[in-house]
Amino acid sequence: MWDDLKSRGAAIAERRIETLFEDPNRARDFSVSALGMLFDYAKTNIDAETRDALIALLDARDVAGRREAMFSGTPINETEGRAVLHTALRNLDGAAVTVEGQDVMPEVLDTLERMEGFARAVRSGEYQGQGGAITDVINIGIGGSDLGPAMAAIALRPYHDGPRLHFVSNVDPADIHDTLSACDPATTLVIVASKTFTTIETMTNARTAKAWMGEVVSDTGAQFAALSTAADKTADFGIAPERVFGFADWVGGRYSMWGPIGLSLMIGIGPEAFRAFLRGGQAMDTHFRAASWQENMPAMLALVGIWHSQVLGHATRAVLPYDNRLARLPAYLQQLEMESNGKRVSMDGEDLGFESGPVVWGEPGTNGQHAFYQLIHQGTRVVPCEFLVAAEGHEEGLEHQHRLLIANCLAQSEALMKGRDFDEARSKVAGKFEGAELERQAKHRVFPGNRPSTTLAYPKLDPETLGKIIALYEHRVFVEGVVLGINSYDQWGVELGKELATALQPIVDGERSADDKDGSTAQLVGFLRANGA
Ligand code: F6P
Repeated sequence: MWDDLKSRGAAIAERRIETLFEDPNRARDFSVSALGMLFDYAKTNIDAETRDALIALLDARDVAGRREAMFSGTPINETEGRAVLHTALRNLDGAAVTVEGQDVMPEVLDTLERMEGFARAVRSGEYQGQGGAITDVINIGIGGSDLGPAMAAIALRPYHDGPRLHFVSNVDPADIHDTLSACDPATTLVIVASKTFTTIETMTNARTAKAWMGEVVSDTGAQFAALSTAADKTADFGIAPERVFGFADWVGGRYSMWGPIGLSLMIGIGPEAFRAFLRGGQAMDTHFRAASWQENMPAMLALVGIWHSQVLGHATRAVLPYDNRLARLPAYLQQLEMESNGKRVSMDGEDLGFESGPVVWGEPGTNGQHAFYQLIHQGTRVVPCEFLVAAEGHEEGLEHQHRLLIANCLAQSEALMKGRDFDEARSKVAGKFEGAELERQAKHRVFPGNRPSTTLAYPKLDPETLGKIIALYEHRVFVEGVVLGINSYDQWGVELGKELATALQPIVDGERSADDKDGSTAQLVGFLRANGA
């Protein structure tokens, strides 16, 4: 199957994507419309036969069976023996979801209601700090306990009507210092977000925040809340159970923003808007379970990714939102996709035999156009691009500016596909140069084109739409993982660095010598200590 796809890839290597548009229905037939959104993959070199071959992968890998196993609570995270049920967090109708014989929905909905009660109390001023109503909320967490709400707080800024939100993640003291210095401890709520409540960065920052607050506030514990699966550890930290919002181990960190990890966002935008976000995710779940593969947005997004990454061998993909408020979406997707599918062995521990998931990166347009698009258009490497664009912005009176943004987005995918050949480049500069210099100048202005891109278009970046988009990418990761035979839900690759950091701490502190370290590490420790560490 892979061999067949690879030979298809080789066979179409010289074919221009534009030629596929000789079929007048190309755009319609190579798009998926669902839930008010349009996913257009017509500007790729996928033709009907290739698509059939890609869809055959889904059946060969029993993606449908695996999908139902996920939704119904089977422990598909096999290396950790856990179910994968972030979808239960947005299962707003409460239809039963069973894990080890028990329906988890009553507890999920109960926690959601407790979060809503607390968020309302913070927003209304009923819950107060020592100095009065809460003006600032600081979420301390990292990775999945930070990136989701931090990304969404920016994405949904037009809906923000609660206290100011801050996100501290890095163990670099600059992060917590700069945040704390902008807040009043007497009116600040600190949320410690950590599934395990052991992550060194988060616990270090949480202790720093507690000490900062303790200089002013007599009962610091009363101005702390915790989001965690580890109730014993939150109690040890001094946070009363009524402000602890728990979730089960079947919610992976990078899939957790739908539940308690979303509390800061809920306080910022309000419980109603947060529910709209959940509804969007739930709508995508329903679509993902019901739609045929060709009409299935997450499945087709995944297959386009597999075509570009595993079949054609493009090592990276750029996520390019023409929506400034999605500025943190690429960072969010880096964790979602790379921590999920950056694995070198398959579920059974054998070498994968092909490339794992790609490097994901990006920046919002139009900023990226003036930075790295040069390489995307004229570099020697092909970077498949994924554009996102809203039909409408939020800024009244500036609609013309939004249309300019849209024009830029569409122009980029058109330019990537069409390029500019030598004759056209030559005619552009024919008046300015002549002879050999004209030839030389023209060569610099050639765009090879034939570079693939997809575009996800949606009406407006409101909470429900954001929910649809995030769930879309989650399911894309799932489908890619199943096709590649990867366990998308563990993350052993982050452990080694954590262990070595713990071992290096006493060496950096000067309590132990670096003699047993490699020469480079010892030299770096020496330099940093000699210069003030
Ligand atoms: O980076 C590894 C990781 O375990 C992520 O998967 C997770 O999102 C992050 O650390 C934070 O973990 P926790 O929520 O337990 O503090």
